[in-house]
Amino acid sequence: MSQQHWNTEIDDQGIAWLAFDKADSATNVLSEEVLEQLNTELISIASHHPIGMVLYSAKRSGFIAGADVKSFIGMSDSGEAESLMLKAHDIFNRAEALPFPTVAMIKGFCLGGGTELALAFNYRVACDDPGTRIGLPEVKLGIFPGFGGTVRSIRRMGPMAAMGMMLSGRVLRGRAAKKTGLVDALVPERHLRRAARQLIIEKPAEFAPPWTARLAGHWLLRPLMSYILNRQVSKKVRMDHYPAPFALINHWAEYAAEPVEMYASEAREVSRLLTGETAQNLIRVFTLQDDLKALGRKSEFHADRVHVIGGGVMGGDIAAWCALRGLTVSLQDMSIESLGKAIKRANTLFKRRLRDPRLVQAAMDRLIADPRGSGLRQADVIIEAIFENTEAKQNLYRGIEPIIKPNAILATNTSSIPLDELSTCLQRPERLIGLHFFNPVPMMQLVEIVTAENTDQSIADDGAAFIRQIDRLPLPVRSTPGFLVNRILMPYLIEAVILESEGVPAILIDEAAVEFGMPMGPIELADTVGLDICLSVAQNLSQTLDITVPEPLRAMVDAGTLGKKTGSGFYQYKKGKAQKPRAGSSPVDKDSITQRLILRLLNESIACLREGVVTSEDLLDAGIIFGTGFAPFRGGPMHYIHQAGVEEVSQSLKSMKNRYGERFEADSGWVELPRTG
Ligand code: NAI
Repeated sequence: MSQQHWNTEIDDQGIAWLAFDKADSATNVLSEEVLEQLNTELISIASHHPIGMVLYSAKRSGFIAGADVKSFIGMSDSGEAESLMLKAHDIFNRAEALPFPTVAMIKGFCLGGGTELALAFNYRVACDDPGTRIGLPEVKLGIFPGFGGTVRSIRRMGPMAAMGMMLSGRVLRGRAAKKTGLVDALVPERHLRRAARQLIIEKPAEFAPPWTARLAGHWLLRPLMSYILNRQVSKKVRMDHYPAPFALINHWAEYAAEPVEMYASEAREVSRLLTGETAQNLIRVFTLQDDLKALGRKSEFHADRVHVIGGGVMGGDIAAWCALRGLTVSLQDMSIESLGKAIKRANTLFKRRLRDPRLVQAAMDRLIADPRGSGLRQADVIIEAIFENTEAKQNLYRGIEPIIKPNAILATNTSSIPLDELSTCLQRPERLIGLHFFNPVPMMQLVEIVTAENTDQSIADDGAAFIRQIDRLPLPVRSTPGFLVNRILMPYLIEAVILESEGVPAILIDEAAVEFGMPMGPIELADTVGLDICLSVAQNLSQTLDITVPEPLRAMVDAGTLGKKTGSGFYQYKKGKAQKPRAGSSPVDKDSITQRLILRLLNESIACLREGVVTSEDLLDAGIIFGTGFAPFRGGPMHYIHQAGVEEVSQSLKSMKNRYGERFEADSGWVELPRTG
């Protein structure tokens, strides 16, 4: 027996109010069942001859998040996918053809299929609040809009605005959506219903983009425009890694003048992409992200006040981020200069992210410089981010434990000191957790939630809930050297330094990694993080793991060549940009460079799994994708191993060991993996 997802009420004026409330789900998504019921509901509404219809969401969480992405997992039959698209086309066409005015009333997120449905209505009215975001982000899943969205968005917004939005996957705030014609009216929440009603009664002419905006779609100009779009996209992604944006440009270039064929091409192309490897892997990444989010729902913990101790690079940015996300934050540092710098950086962040001067001021008011630590007593979360020194941290904990709230989270941002060593000074050692943020804090989504043997799991769950509250992704890891992300990254970075010392041009090493799909090459990454920081992490890890610190790295740090921050590292920097010379000849070919880099990363991944640093392959993949940017279209290191074949990858390690020695010795965990391929 299927459940009811749609409800309609017809009011005294004869307006049908169609509520979407997906049963058994906190979020509205368009599954096949939901679409079929919508079809029935539309037929029923039409039979009552209302004077108009308003679609709205009965969920507090937002309007419609899009199609039911989980139903696409493992989809391999493009015919099956195409028939789903065509079914959606029929239903949306039915909505579009209703003989009375229709309005989509949007509050909160309206994404993908949700936007496509809204576009089939005569008018869209959106709530003027920061939470309302509208867009077609399908490219991020390796596809493009497949429920008629390419045809209708171009018709409403003009080709360049619509293609720009679809190609980037950018989601628009209310004001931008209004400016581009995506929505007709933007009003405060209390006026939403009135605005929708007014559109139905007044039936103004539907918005059409001016001829200047439509010009790019003219058949004479389209080849040039698609050439320009192709060039712009090629600068950002490669077609063999991410085929969807290129396919979208071709689809538009070929069919823009023929809507009927364009709908058919949309269904065909999106089905082809959806069943391909890139989309399936990107959908996997999307579900992994959901899995991480779910880890934050194990506890009801909610913080109002945060106290951060140590206002340096990390603490300052953590405090600013928490204030940006609406929390009241006190920031303590023994150096007034550090505090001043942190507040200045926070101001820059708020201006960039919030834009509206009133919102910037409100965020500044929430961030309190607190040299004396007065905020400690009221804080629900205390995050320590002082120098990486056990004694200094323990002295601090001894002083604060008696005065902080008994149920407050006490967390450290340490990147290398074992938790059970730090917590020995506490009356309640089980309360200390690690909240390991990555640098730069505003860019890095992942936060490792570190626990030791004796940590109270419920406090770690509170920590994960807090990390979700500030819109980051929590990854539970065991307190072992380097935790997960730094540990897996380090052998890969070290291999890059070894390659460089063998005479391989840095630029070739970076190119090989970027061609594999990494967001930035390892040499540039090391320069960006700072060679001193890389050296200290490597030295730390070398005490317990089989890692040899490369001499050239040590020598560069000794000479004060620390990378981007000193203007010189493996590359020279001008105005913060690496000056990359033309690559000379290389003693190692590009394939071998890629293999050496990636095999070390994969081997360390297996070691982490065997040691239980994380509890599953999926969590490892999620951590490495969101913590390092590891090629998302490959679905994560473990997924990559299974796709390439465990046997094949193990064999490659063996031959690397024969050529380059013990550092390529396969971890004993390889034999425990199921033989897939
Ligand atoms: P930093 O040297 O930039 O900042 C440390 C700040 O703590 C300084 O402003 C100092 O004045 C202040 N401080 C030191 N002792 C204090 C005390 N007893 N009371 C109040 N303030 C005190 O250091 P950074 O890089 O921000 O690192 C902080 C922590 O974060 C370390 O544990 C580090 O391992 C960890 N971490 C660092 C990352 C990085 O990329 N820099 C990344 C992830 C974690």
